[in-house]
Amino acid sequence: MSKGFTLWFTGLSGAGKTTIAEIVGPELERRGLAVEYLDGDVVRTHLSKGLGFSKEDRDTNIERIGWVASRLTRHGAAVLVSAISPYEETRQKARDLVEEHGPFVEVFVATSVEECARRDVKGLYEKAFSGEIKEFTGVSDPYEEPSSPELKIDTEEHEPEESARIVVEKLAETGLIEASVPA
Ligand code: ADX
Repeated sequence: MSKGFTLWFTGLSGAGKTTIAEIVGPELERRGLAVEYLDGDVVRTHLSKGLGFSKEDRDTNIERIGWVASRLTRHGAAVLVSAISPYEETRQKARDLVEEHGPFVEVFVATSVEECARRDVKGLYEKAFSGEIKEFTGVSDPYEEPSSPELKIDTEEHEPEESARIVVEKLAETGLIEASVPA
């Protein structure tokens, strides 16, 4: 069984976390890893159903995701988490849980609010700016940038495929995966 780890994508809504994770995942599967995705939007439809966006609810959401990621890491999975996870202290808690069983690789998907709002894939920024949605990260709610992520990716400089390649290279460099797909 391969050694498990958690790849934790943090960044604003619409920064590109899920998009990048969904390109990285298949690359890991090609290397024989058991991949599991924990995506904030998805987790909020079951495990975290009913939680809102107050600091308390976001912390609960992230602690739950961190706990599940830790359990999966223990069993050798490559866990891909995509969640805004806006608070440094709470991300640290998730890291501590995971690191009981394997490496935690924090990837800061850095995209400015202006760029996320320009993309506005889900139409949420428009509503956040008009006040229709309250406590919106980066607009009316805080986002604490990671102080020492394992990796920072500027999505305004790279296309998603390129960003995913940078992540895969980092994992290979760290010795967590094979550099190339085995024949
Ligand atoms: S977190 O803060 O608890 O980590 P999470 O990643 O699970 O957030 O969920 C964020 C997603 O919820 C966003 O991508 C967006 O689709 C949706 N969302 C709805 N309301 C908000 C809000 N007020 N702030 C941020 N995201 C919101």
